[in-house]
Amino acid sequence: MFAVTFARYGDPSVLEVTELPEPHAGPGQVRIAVRTAAVNPFDCKVRAGYMKDFVPIDFPSVPGLEAAGVVDEVGEGVTGVSVGDQVFGLGRATWAQYAVLDHVAAKPAVLGWPEVGGLAVAAETAQRSLDALGAGPGQTLLIDGAAGGVGSAAAQFARAAGLTVIGTASEANHAYLRTLGVLPTLYGSGLAGRVAELAPNGVDLALDTAGKGSVPDLVAITGSPDAVLSIADFNAGRHGVRTTSQASAFGALAKAASLAEAGEFTLRVDSVYPLEGAARAHQRSESGHPAGKVVLSVREE
Ligand SMILES: NC(=O)c1ccc[n+]([C@@H]2O[C@H](COP(=O)([O-])OP(=O)(O)OC[C@H]3O[C@@H](n4cnc5c(N)ncnc54)[C@H](OP(=O)(O)O)[C@@H]3O)[C@@H](O)[C@H]2O)c1
Repeated sequence: MFAVTFARYGDPSVLEVTELPEPHAGPGQVRIAVRTAAVNPFDCKVRAGYMKDFVPIDFPSVPGLEAAGVVDEVGEGVTGVSVGDQVFGLGRATWAQYAVLDHVAAKPAVLGWPEVGGLAVAAETAQRSLDALGAGPGQTLLIDGAAGGVGSAAAQFARAAGLTVIGTASEANHAYLRTLGVLPTLYGSGLAGRVAELAPNGVDLALDTAGKGSVPDLVAITGSPDAVLSIADFNAGRHGVRTTSQASAFGALAKAASLAEAGEFTLRVDSVYPLEGAARAHQRSESGHPAGKVVLSVREE
């Protein structure tokens, strides 16, 4: 099969399309013929070598944590999934014609292949973050980086759960945030003042999905480090703030699919690249401001 690989750490130009043996589904896994996969900032950090002390890899390495496609192998012990099902989910080495996934959910008919290719990581991370914060109905949540993949998923889960959501984004994304029922504001200097105007009764919880150094401000805004969580700032602990990195909220995949069917969840797609466009896809994600998920289209049917 063809896959995107990199044989050394470096800039996006190290990505190339090469031929590799097909993987097969082990116990508890399914294999899919991949239609779409998405870029996550993690993929770029691994490729650049920033994660080499924490995430050891063998070269050549295939990027990708998520994909969507059609099941063509079902591993031992897997129930509720059959060959031919259209699914999306979480795995490793997903930037390939075939990928093995550990957690899947049925593709909602209302979302296209580009949308579902980038749904799993955003949904799982968002739900795990809200669970860790103990988010509940009636609370006010501030999300720093609310227009991103994880931020927009967290905003929609939180809105569906009955929270008021204030979200930071650049001006160009404020109209988008309003469509999600989020009160938009700019990130950066002066955040506390802007948030106080939007939430005169205060903010209960804050989620940092941007990792741009806002953690001390978020502690000041909520009044407690326990009310703040970061998924992207691993210096957050210096301020007594928790981080999370281990996937665990796998029920979020089916939840996102069912909210999508109900018209309460969408995922923006910034751009779609062919397998040969992997380097450009990484560059686009690394701009830090894609207007939605950056997606790889692996096969048309
Ligand atoms: N810990 C985990 O388990 C986990 C899981 C998934 C992702 N992550 C990490 O979480 C981060 C976000 O991932 P993602 O997939 O959501 O990324 P993404 O889709 O690329 O979104 C990034 C967002 O950051 C916003 N942003 C840029 N500069 C900002 C700033 N100075 N302040 C606040 N927001 C800013 C951008 O908004 P504008 O375009 O409006 O500027 C954009 O919407 C990445 O670092 C990723 O590695 C961690």
